[in-house]
Amino acid sequence: IDNMSIAIDGPAGAGKSTVARLLAEKLGLLYIDTGAMYRTLTLSVLREQLDLSDEDRITKLAGALNIKLSNQPLDNKVFLNGEDVTEAIRQPEVSRNVALIARMPAVRQIMVNIQQSLAEKGKVVMEGRDIGNKVLPGATYKFFLTASPEERAKRRYRELIEKGYEVSLNDLVRDITERDNTDRTRLTDPLIPAPDAIIIDSTNMSLVEVTNNIIKLIAAGN
Ligand code: C5P
Repeated sequence: IDNMSIAIDGPAGAGKSTVARLLAEKLGLLYIDTGAMYRTLTLSVLREQLDLSDEDRITKLAGALNIKLSNQPLDNKVFLNGEDVTEAIRQPEVSRNVALIARMPAVRQIMVNIQQSLAEKGKVVMEGRDIGNKVLPGATYKFFLTASPEERAKRRYRELIEKGYEVSLNDLVRDITERDNTDRTRLTDPLIPAPDAIIIDSTNMSLVEVTNNIIKLIAAGN
């Protein structure tokens, strides 16, 4: 399919980014990380020390934000007003607050509009929480990746330790569970598998295996 679009949703640490990047690389698609957009807004809110309950000001900030994603699978940097914030948006402080901002309906509307325009021409693999249900309901393929909370926390733990952060596994299990709860129970576009999504549990699978399975499904025209 020439203008194929792939939606990848799922909770934190389920392997969405790794799988989406591998797919983008192998299938020649643009990779769009929508979580990076909510994270960049959150970083900005924290830097400006806005009150996290001040939905009006946060929405204004969202509307004025100049976020740029480089959409190449091997070079997915994120820029905020020209500054490279690729690393800064992964800070635990941002992870702990992002779901509180992402649940604001007016903020989501702004982000969804941008995401839909980025995907207008197709040829994308987009990862997030509401891609299959809201952003790209007509996506050619929809996948919902999951894994046990312990396995997801372990994956995040390894990533963060590798980057030099001092974190504890217990804290991560708690943070991830809390963030998923907020994402699953929010009123606007909660984290729920699309009715037509293929659900893949990667608890006992490597992310390369997951990617290869998806490629097989696509090649078989399923
Ligand atoms: O994917 P990532 O973990 O970077 O996403 C960070 C947060 O951004 C999620 O926990 C969620 O609160 C929010 N998000 C969202 N909708 C998306 C992508 C991310 O609400 N499509």
